Amino acid sequence: MSEKMFIRLPTGETLEAVKGENLLHALKRHGVYLVASCGGKGLCGKCRVNIISGKYSIKSKGKLEPDEISSGIVLACQTYPEEELIIDIPKESKLVIGDIIEISRAKYFSDLFRSLNGKISPLLRWVTLEITPPTLNNNIGDLERLKKAIEEKGIKGMSFPHEFITTLADSLRDAEWKVNFAYTDDHKAIFISSIKDKKSYGVAVDIGTTTVVVYLVDMKDGSLVDVGSTYNSQIRYGDDVITRIIYATESGGLDDLRDKVVNDINNLLRPIIERHSIEPEDIESAVISGNTTMSHLFWGLNPAYIREEPYTPALNTFPLWDAETAKLDINLRSPLYTLPCVSSYVGGDIVAGLLASKMHRNDEISLFMDIGTNGEIVIGNKEWLITSACSAGPCFEGSGIRHGMRATNGAIEAVKIDQRTLEPVLSVIGNSKPIGICGSGMIDAITELFLSGVIDQKGKFLMGLDTERVRGGIEGPEFVFSSDGQRDIVLTEVDIENIIRAKAAIYAGISLLLKKVGFTHSDVERIYIAGGFGNYLNIDKAVIIGMLPDLPKERFILLGNASIVGAYLCLMSENMRKEAEEIAQKMTNIELSVSRRFMDEYLSALFLPHTDIGLFPTVGKLLRNK
Ligand code: FES
Repeated sequence: MSEKMFIRLPTGETLEAVKGENLLHALKRHGVYLVASCGGKGLCGKCRVNIISGKYSIKSKGKLEPDEISSGIVLACQTYPEEELIIDIPKESKLVIGDIIEISRAKYFSDLFRSLNGKISPLLRWVTLEITPPTLNNNIGDLERLKKAIEEKGIKGMSFPHEFITTLADSLRDAEWKVNFAYTDDHKAIFISSIKDKKSYGVAVDIGTTTVVVYLVDMKDGSLVDVGSTYNSQIRYGDDVITRIIYATESGGLDDLRDKVVNDINNLLRPIIERHSIEPEDIESAVISGNTTMSHLFWGLNPAYIREEPYTPALNTFPLWDAETAKLDINLRSPLYTLPCVSSYVGGDIVAGLLASKMHRNDEISLFMDIGTNGEIVIGNKEWLITSACSAGPCFEGSGIRHGMRATNGAIEAVKIDQRTLEPVLSVIGNSKPIGICGSGMIDAITELFLSGVIDQKGKFLMGLDTERVRGGIEGPEFVFSSDGQRDIVLTEVDIENIIRAKAAIYAGISLLLKKVGFTHSDVERIYIAGGFGNYLNIDKAVIIGMLPDLPKERFILLGNASIVGAYLCLMSENMRKEAEEIAQKMTNIELSVSRRFMDEYLSALFLPHTDIGLFPTVGKLLRNK
């Protein structure tokens, strides 16, 4: 029998652990989730907990500072209890799952839909039928009677699945033979309902690697009824798609990941349904948009081959599904549409984003980029589209950065450094005490450190400056942005290297894709930036560090979450679904990571802003005028 031990939390809660089980795992089993960006490998240093008392053994100290170790801080994934432990979990180590994290309504939805000349044509079509009730003189079967009424409306070639037929007799009588008959584009009967009090809603879902967003839409007029958004609960298995794919291949992992994301969607829908006094049955269609891995996990498909050369998804074009099989808590017969993917690393979210940007309809050469946990790029116009994922990694979402975090309360989101005193002024989300630094804060911080002469073009610290903020840390030099006597928030030279690598991958991806089609940066007339990060990005500073090309500011358009907008458009209209499929077909995917030219471009971009300053004329001028 396995030996049991206990873990006590400051809340008074006592949890049971099994000998040989690490702390991270034991806490997770009891629903206490820690940030575990590396999936428990001891690499990210995010799962810190404080041991107040008790005996334990540790496998690795990772990158903990000596003073952290002496004050009882351990990495939960590397710590094994040997007797009862009393622990404390610092705020920055707690993973927020299940909370509503953002309520934003894109009011421009209906305008955008109109500007695309979209006609409302949901996944479910409706026809109202007044069927003659049976009599002793006319007692043909119910299905034959229904078929006759449908054909009288000029609709031919309908198929009637078993689940439709089994409920038909009762449904017709409950509705007193005056019914709304629902069927799909391909003429499959879905259900019938009473014509009285007919409500019709649809749900658009964006499954991001980090967040899940749900929009409830009134299908009668396309108005947005409500919005819900939460962290993707799969985060507890790691921040990026690769750690999820690895977990999916473990026993029970795939089912677990699928259940997590389906629960997230259902948990978001439940309060929305209650708030608006509607019934789950009133939600009659759903559209899912996600990257290729997220779409596979939602469908319960093995994503293993996505990460193995030659990087093959199980499928790119998903058949129409239904809510019952997908386990969504809406009308069980609802058809469910999944946006098509292009390749292993360019998914339905990018197709949806492009649809929302309209760049595929324009003559001008445009660049679309999604800077999230990976980094995808599309270049083209209405004639052609070329795309690639550029493996930027999730550092802008906090992974691999010592005090990196997502853009939530407590994150430093903007930084200004006084060039004379080198004192920073911070802007923190929620105006609270800083607990970390998010993507936009990192870009600001590096720009300011660079312009103040604290770091050089390679991102290396200049030592001997007249400030105590630059100091030696466990990983080498670092800059202290804030200190409360207990915990300092720093950006280390290793962090800066990681961020420069990520920005270099993005810039190299853009440069190489442009060269492949014979264009230069200045030929790009419009740049669309999508992704959660796209809401907060400071364009000027992203140009100064060399992440974005040095082009006039008015060419940049921040789209925010374009994936959910594309999902909404597909929910509303058959034309939009067809257009999304055409976009996916038209996109030529290029695997940049295997190209030697990519490596050349990448190496040239590993500087601030670039080895060739001629590519960044405004930054060159700024540096000369300093
Ligand atoms: S170091 Fe423990 S989860 Fe990454």
